[in-house]
Amino acid sequence: MLGKLSKWKSNLTAQELKEEIDLVEIPKHIAIIMDGNGRWAKNRGLPRIAGHREGMKVVRKVVQKANDLGVEVLTLYAFSTENWKRPKTEVDYLMKLPERFLNKELPSLIEENVKVRLMGSIEELPEHTKRAVIKAVKDTENNTGLILNFALNYGSRFELMNAVKEISRQVELGKLKTDDINESILEQHLMTAELRDPDLLIRTSGEIRLSNFMLWQVAYSEFWFTDVLWPDFNESHLEEAIAVYQKRARRYGGV
Ligand code: FPP
Repeated sequence: MLGKLSKWKSNLTAQELKEEIDLVEIPKHIAIIMDGNGRWAKNRGLPRIAGHREGMKVVRKVVQKANDLGVEVLTLYAFSTENWKRPKTEVDYLMKLPERFLNKELPSLIEENVKVRLMGSIEELPEHTKRAVIKAVKDTENNTGLILNFALNYGSRFELMNAVKEISRQVELGKLKTDDINESILEQHLMTAELRDPDLLIRTSGEIRLSNFMLWQVAYSEFWFTDVLWPDFNESHLEEAIAVYQKRARRYGGV
């Protein structure tokens, strides 16, 4: 079912897709699981890191397009709590990417009014990575355009477990009663506290799973899966995903 939907009208030209998009109904929060860098590189006989380098270039294009379309929040899954299990050389490379990306792109992100935000256990990142991302957050803190939310060393189970711990602590301290715990209180303890939930979740590379990404927040998101590998993803694919999203009827459990 989802596979079929992902191919919906995929033979449309970029121009036809543009015409399909209703600029009033743009999903306000788009979250993307950027997958397939390794396979893209392997298909070309290149080392996996070549796929990540290419993937970084796509991030730039997608940020620009999302901003142009008036998306409010773009969340990108750049490194999961599970990605530490990869070979050290690959992890080291992935940890260099935010710095590389921001060294090059921060001035233009500032110019385009993009506000960089982070979600994940940032303290555990290497010093050079931390420094680069914290600087980007600080330098863009007053921007009012697209919120570019990088999920770095992020894992949804850890996030939920941590929220439970913090809430329990408040109960222990007598600041909160168990019966007063509600969805809103839990949400305030997630790493997305001041963000709306994703309207649209995109995953590239043909994998149909969530991989510990925003498990609470995507409860009512529309999902769009594509076989396209992340380094091949482009602005037209984003438009296609939005066009499909706009054809869906969101009922939130109602009729
Ligand atoms: C998954 O593909 C991708 C990642 C774990 C890394 C994603 C990172 C980028 C796209 C670049 C990030 C850029 C910035 C600016 C932080 P995979 O390696 O699991 O691919 P595979 O499933 O084909 O092996």
